[in-house]
Amino acid sequence: MLIRKPTDIPFSEVTPQSLYLRRREFFQAAASGALAAATVLAPRGAGAQTGPKLPNVRKTPYGQGERLNSYADVTGYNNFYEFGTGKEDPAANAKDFTGRPWTIKVDGRVKNAGDHDIDSFIKPYALEERIYRLRCVEGWSMVIPWVGIPLADVINRLEPEPGARFVEFTTLNDARRMPGLNVPVLRWPYVEGLRMDEAMNPLSILAVGVYGEALPGQNGAPIRLVVPWKYGFKSTKSIVRIRFTDSEPRNSWQVSAPREYGFYANVNPEVDHPRWSQATERRLGEFRRRPTEMFNGYGDQVARMYAGMDLRKNF
Ligand code: MTE
Repeated sequence: MLIRKPTDIPFSEVTPQSLYLRRREFFQAAASGALAAATVLAPRGAGAQTGPKLPNVRKTPYGQGERLNSYADVTGYNNFYEFGTGKEDPAANAKDFTGRPWTIKVDGRVKNAGDHDIDSFIKPYALEERIYRLRCVEGWSMVIPWVGIPLADVINRLEPEPGARFVEFTTLNDARRMPGLNVPVLRWPYVEGLRMDEAMNPLSILAVGVYGEALPGQNGAPIRLVVPWKYGFKSTKSIVRIRFTDSEPRNSWQVSAPREYGFYANVNPEVDHPRWSQATERRLGEFRRRPTEMFNGYGDQVARMYAGMDLRKNF
């Protein structure tokens, strides 16, 4: 039960127990002989793919050759506190959540401000598959085949004004549909932001699907941000508002625990979280931890944006 003050709860408490349970599963599977060497990425939790395939998804070179986490891992082990703080809560509590009808409000320093229906919002763009690594600040990681559209294309079409230096993304705040909103683990609604050059980086996408299907509720239906060189918490789910602003947005995690979470949140094995190391990570389905890479391994494409910045201060 969540009876402590919010800043005491996030990540530190919730994770170890669920990781412990998964370790137990691992040992049970190993003991029963079910764990052959080649099947370490065993599916757990959620079921098989059932939804209709998204049409005309173009394959891309992003992440080709990476070993994917299973559909069950990607849709069964989630952080989405609006649907509960346990890793299996989002899949259970979002199973009837639908991303239609859905309106995205665009406002702030932008020419094409207004309310946009999700379908007309994404219609102009060709859907792409991008295989990205996701590194959670808690120390686990996955490899996920997203279906999405480049955020830069969306921003260009919205035509920000010259004064727009940051983009802020806000999640739906509807406690009738999202039971976790009744629990004050964070200050709701969930808000995240990017500097304009980060948002325009070719790696940043708005995802509308995963594994070739429309996003399930637990992964942020109908549309969510994916910024793979940053810790997963930057990737706002179920977006209802995109705001262009001249000042750095106050993101939810930074507001809740400013000593622990910053605005940039770039994956960085050399900057520890105040309560745990960030040097290594556990890829879901693997037992041995692996070293975490600077910028989650995407440094070639993003490091220059932070040239000259002290990444210990700007964490
Ligand atoms: N977005 C909202 N609105 N609420 C959340 O709790 N959790 C974040 C991010 N986006 C979160 C969110 C965190 S901590 C992670 S690691 C990723 O979503 C997880 O994305 P996934 O469940 O699709 O793997």
